Amino acid sequence: MSLLIKNGTIVTATDQYVGDVFVDGEKITTLGTALTMPADRTIDASGKYVIPGGIDVHTHLDMPFGGTTSADDFESGTIAAAFGGTTTIVDFAIQYKGETLHHAYETWMQKAQGKAAIDYGFHMIITELSDQVEVEMDGMVREGVTSFKLFMAYPGVFMLDDASIFRAMLRTGRNGGTICMHAENGGVIDVLVKKALAEGKTAPKYHAVTRPARAEGEATHRAIALAEIADVPVYIVHLSAAEALEMVTDARDRGLPAYAETCPQYLFLSEDNYDEPGFEGSKYVMSPPLRARAAQDTLWRGLAFNDLQAIATDHCPFCMKEKHLGDGDFSKIPNGAPGVETRMSLVYDGGVRTGRISMNRFVELTSTSPAKIFGMFPRKGTIAPGSDADIVIFDPKKTTTLSAKTHHMKVDYNPYEGRQVTGVTETVLSRGKVIIEGGRFTGRAGAGAFLKRSARS
Ligand code: URP
Ligand code: ZN
Ligand code: ZN
Repeated sequence: MSLLIKNGTIVTATDQYVGDVFVDGEKITTLGTALTMPADRTIDASGKYVIPGGIDVHTHLDMPFGGTTSADDFESGTIAAAFGGTTTIVDFAIQYKGETLHHAYETWMQKAQGKAAIDYGFHMIITELSDQVEVEMDGMVREGVTSFKLFMAYPGVFMLDDASIFRAMLRTGRNGGTICMHAENGGVIDVLVKKALAEGKTAPKYHAVTRPARAEGEATHRAIALAEIADVPVYIVHLSAAEALEMVTDARDRGLPAYAETCPQYLFLSEDNYDEPGFEGSKYVMSPPLRARAAQDTLWRGLAFNDLQAIATDHCPFCMKEKHLGDGDFSKIPNGAPGVETRMSLVYDGGVRTGRISMNRFVELTSTSPAKIFGMFPRKGTIAPGSDADIVIFDPKKTTTLSAKTHHMKVDYNPYEGRQVTGVTETVLSRGKVIIEGGRFTGRAGAGAFLKRSARS
């Protein structure tokens, strides 16, 4: 099957020009102007952007957490991603205590295979380290699971002590992987949570009060310092606070391989959302929490100047029924919020249209840079001969209203309910197949393939 996309404005992280893209089977084979080769199908993209499919390197599909399981599985989550213009995800497999990494890998494979509609990779969450697990880490890298997420938060559940973190870093420094860090000081937060509950402060807003920005800044500093000693690249996930960004900026200014992502929720929502009436504030209970509105400008500046390298979603949806597990105790509200479907439109509308970032930078932050950091480039993350034909035709003029009534994520609220965004995904190709067209999913659950990602060379 061949496909010719004509007259679109092709945008990569570095280029922008009106031209044609020829797709043969699963790959892009030719770029040019006025291409005339015969194709099984031609799509006119005049007036539209033709961009590499979005890459979301932070999702939690079908994830047991907080006494329940995230609402989207690999089928609903990847279809929702595709509707939003994302063609690759990297999800987090979890090694639970007493289990091997291999078991976690197999468990997540079972969750994804036959269900994922787009390509997917895994990071590996390590919650318990032993000599045996260290050996397994090298095996994971060989299997294409080339990044390990470690937690400085959630004591008793996911948190590792500094010694274990450092050991995992040393191993990763040698095996060519990358460390992803959840950087919040879990010990300090635990004390603050217990104190708040003892004082009768049980409402959702106390989730934010007990997770101060400085606790994120401190952990980010510690993560980078440990990674520097271990000589390993570190990628700070879901960075939300100016105090944390300052640590990443300092490290990068010193030439360290420190990277960080932020997420749309930290760019468009704020701690004010916790004051919504009744139990509505629970919709925004996630970790790190939403911050003061002023932090948004700092994050946008970080994105523009490459102190932040990626925008992912931390998609971890729970329905309101599950959020109500925390009635009368905010610490029992499952942490996480939906976002895999809304990322591209939100960032285009709030970033490109407002002039905060260029169209090239938009592509870089949502696709190219995560592909490079996590060993997927140039197979993914660009429009070039030889790359997978993961392509989004994006209408920059179309406006839509974000709403739980119309989204495809399997969750009964949308954190951006009623927000109008201009810039909408129109058509999506996953490895050469049209999977979104005319507002419909035309792909197939199970068509997504596991991505063996490369290690550092
Ligand atoms: O609140 C969040 N972020 N939930 C998902 C788990 C994590 O820490 O990324
Ligand atoms: Zn996290
Ligand atoms: Zn997460």
